[in-house]
Amino acid sequence: MSRFAAKFVEKELQIQTTGLSGKNFVLGLPTGSTPIGMYERLIEMNRAWEVDFSKVTTFNLDEYYPIKRDNSQSYYKFMFDNLFGKINIDKKNINILSGEVSDADSECLEYEKKIEAAGGIDLMVIGLGANGHIGFNEPGDFLIPYTHATDLTQDTREKNMRFFNSLDEVPSKALTMGMGSILKAKKILMLVSGESKKEAFKNLLDGKITTKIPVSFLHLHRDVTVLSDMKL
Ligand code: F6R
Repeated sequence: MSRFAAKFVEKELQIQTTGLSGKNFVLGLPTGSTPIGMYERLIEMNRAWEVDFSKVTTFNLDEYYPIKRDNSQSYYKFMFDNLFGKINIDKKNINILSGEVSDADSECLEYEKKIEAAGGIDLMVIGLGANGHIGFNEPGDFLIPYTHATDLTQDTREKNMRFFNSLDEVPSKALTMGMGSILKAKKILMLVSGESKKEAFKNLLDGKITTKIPVSFLHLHRDVTVLSDMKL
């Protein structure tokens, strides 16, 4: 799955950057356990000159809030440890929501503007939460379309506790792209790994759209590829 995903990213990047537009390829990226294999493969490919990140701009999907960038559990640190610190990307082209700001709302608004100014996201890579969440768009009565601050559900905090020393240390909020920010991407690549995602994945295949299963909104997008390592 990871090899295929890395190849997919490389192909899209190639198409865009060999064109005449001169525009950077804009790549949306997730954290979590699922994309780690893809990131490892992309690093190998970059070292072998099979993929070039010098004309790539990235936007990460989400970040805990509040959190310091140098906290070992920040998504900022995750991205530098698992990808950005190991590839030839220009650091000024990396965009990650900051969990350090005092005004979360203007951080989110600025982020939307930056995505727009970059020409929109060409390829958005996402993972799937066991409860059907995408980014930190959690199941509920409604979804917020644009980048916003959100409370994490107890369920998500408990799942993410494995990376912290205790539940108290897991931030209670996050900043996340909204479902609309994700659906505006030209292409979406979703990676689904692990048995715990089976239920959410089956719900997606059911075809009904509901805010109780945020991933179901992918049905409204015309260009989604799903790669999974699971047998249904
Ligand atoms: C991560 C993110 C989350 C994860 C999801 C799956 O940036 O936005 O939605 O994609 O929780 O996480 P893993 O891959 O750890 O199972």
